[in-house]
Amino acid sequence: MGEELVTADQLEERMDLGLLNYWYPVLPSWSVSETPIGITRLGQKIALWRDKDGVIHAIEDRCPHRGARLSLGWNVGDRLACWYHGVQVDGKGNVVEVPAEKNCPMVGEACVTGYSVKEVRGAVFLYFGDELNQEPVDIGLPEELTDDEEYGSFLCMAKWKVNHRYAVENVMDPMHGAYLHGESHSMAAGDKSAEMHITKTELGLIFEKVGQKGVNFDWTELRETGVQALRLAIPYGPEAGPGGAFTIVGMCTPVDREHCLVFFWRVRQISGWKRDLWRFMYRNSLEKKHWDVLEQDRLLLENLVEDARDQEFLYTHDMGLVRWRRLLQKKAKAQLQAVAEAKA
Ligand code: FES
Ligand SMILES: [Fe+2]
Repeated sequence: MGEELVTADQLEERMDLGLLNYWYPVLPSWSVSETPIGITRLGQKIALWRDKDGVIHAIEDRCPHRGARLSLGWNVGDRLACWYHGVQVDGKGNVVEVPAEKNCPMVGEACVTGYSVKEVRGAVFLYFGDELNQEPVDIGLPEELTDDEEYGSFLCMAKWKVNHRYAVENVMDPMHGAYLHGESHSMAAGDKSAEMHITKTELGLIFEKVGQKGVNFDWTELRETGVQALRLAIPYGPEAGPGGAFTIVGMCTPVDREHCLVFFWRVRQISGWKRDLWRFMYRNSLEKKHWDVLEQDRLLLENLVEDARDQEFLYTHDMGLVRWRRLLQKKAKAQLQAVAEAKA
């Protein structure tokens, strides 16, 4: 019942632009200053700025008066003033002043969307709720991002000209490590063929090679904790200094239907002087090597044939991404359905 409330196009659009009711990283922290900045994420236009205390505000990038971009306007502390006629909108999306007209009825109205904001480990996260879920959900990040004592990390972000679904599927496919990155510094070892296995976990699932761990990119974990996060580990040889394998915590944020941002925290369980040494080595040599690997992913994905998904011949190694696809579709449908039913 109710199935027909959601059209195939709506479903496809939601899957292309990203599920709602999750937190997504949208920018590295350093890129948000007191000067307003305008971005597009999940197909939504958003203006962000920092107030005098360094707190970030994020609102829909649209002046409720006549549609000018608020990000082109002025930061007046906890609000933005539109460049066109000076209307002021606060961080919750409420109009607080209309300087051009006395007693304007727009004052006090909540006219545009305000986003909840969090800053974690060098990234700005926004919560994207649908009509029924405006209150942000809890965000449960992997301990690699919450335990600063234990784990050191670098955030790397890249913009790819590919739909986010392909970028996530790429991480749900550990076997590509031994081929696409087979010549790289960290993924040259191990079997070129494997049996794959899925284990359901409390937070999501782990997709892994049977009988090979700690040799190449051998497993991926998908975690659903108010944010969709991916975890994987890649071994580091002795030439990469102390600290053993390094973990990647990845998140992918849709920009629009053709672009996405990938956020990768490169993490090592390391502290004290060893962490300093790793940071030094990272900056001096490892970072470049990691970027080279990421470029291989970008090049491959940006050049997939058009509508690659419609002409695939999947085999068992693709179980991990198939599982993620099902999850995406199920959740997208449920979200749209709930809103459509509430409206009906
Ligand atoms: S369009 Fe923004 S104040 Fe007129
Ligand atoms: Fe890769």
